[in-house]
Amino acid sequence: MRIAVIGADGQLGTDLVKTLAQDEVFALCYPEFDVTRADRMRSVLQEMRPAAVINTAAFHRVDDCEDDPESAFRVNSIAVRDLARLAGELGFVLVHYSTDYVFDGRKKAPYIESDPPNPLNAYAVSKLAGEFFVRALVERYFLIRTCGLFGEASSPGKGYNFVDRMIALAGAGKTLRVVDDQWVSPTSTAELAERTSALIRTDKYGLYHLTSEGQCTWFQFAQRTFSLLGRSPRLEPVDSKTFAAKARRPLYSVLENKRAKEIGLRDFSLWDEALRVYLEKRALIPR
Ligand SMILES: NC(=O)c1ccc[n+]([C@@H]2O[C@H](COP(=O)([O-])OP(=O)(O)OC[C@H]3O[C@@H](n4cnc5c(N)ncnc54)[C@H](OP(=O)(O)O)[C@@H]3O)[C@@H](O)[C@H]2O)c1
Repeated sequence: MRIAVIGADGQLGTDLVKTLAQDEVFALCYPEFDVTRADRMRSVLQEMRPAAVINTAAFHRVDDCEDDPESAFRVNSIAVRDLARLAGELGFVLVHYSTDYVFDGRKKAPYIESDPPNPLNAYAVSKLAGEFFVRALVERYFLIRTCGLFGEASSPGKGYNFVDRMIALAGAGKTLRVVDDQWVSPTSTAELAERTSALIRTDKYGLYHLTSEGQCTWFQFAQRTFSLLGRSPRLEPVDSKTFAAKARRPLYSVLENKRAKEIGLRDFSLWDEALRVYLEKRALIPR
């Protein structure tokens, strides 16, 4: 299958390129390939003639989106509209990722695909606008909401994922204050890439929730990381109000992979089993 991966050197993009090794993959990286440059995007994709385009590009530093909503909308909404239009024009299947943050967290039980979104911050609103463009403009699409990604490509240059940020802060000998009232399903990009690869070989188009199984708070995620590493830095649970981040976040954004289960996609591992595998691959714990 001819597949273009946008954001191919990001966390998820890197694992997608690895997973799709048997396919004919075009790895598109920023800034050479910039989703906000619609004309260039058209000419590159026109020449490649991919059967599918997988878009992992996002402006997703959630607090920065509050200060710079223009950039958030440019990348997460307008560029997605341009890509959605191109899907119709050039006839490719569009695979696009969205976020657990489209929900407000009031449900307090895992969200399924048919639950109504109600985003609380600029990032989430811009991602939901992107979702609506895909749903309105594309006939054959896979729209995938996911949560709390961790993958091997996380690096200081790109901005750490949560696990690596915790490890780095602990290395600096700091007391780690971590929110203990926001529930999530941390998700391995290696597994998400595998499930995406399986999904795009079907014709079961539409909206999917794809996350690791189980749930935890960010504090519990940090705790488990250090217990697997056999380390005990000073960890302090705090609530969201004490933490006072710029962007308001849902207190509960666990997703249920309802549709994926219905179509028989292989189950994800439990998040802490995926975390163990991640730490092994990074050679931070023995295999
Ligand atoms: N990370 C999470 O915890 C999380 C949670 C829920 C949903 N998601 C969604 O999952 C998707 C993948 O996330 P990720 O963690 O893999 O992100 P990531 O590591 O930041 O990867 C995104 C990639 O897109 C590139 N990019 C940024 N702006 C671009 C532009 N204008 N044009 C083309 N490429 C651009 C980035 O390049 P540079 O690095 O050079 O900027 C990077 O290679 C995103 O849609 C995100 O919203 C992520």
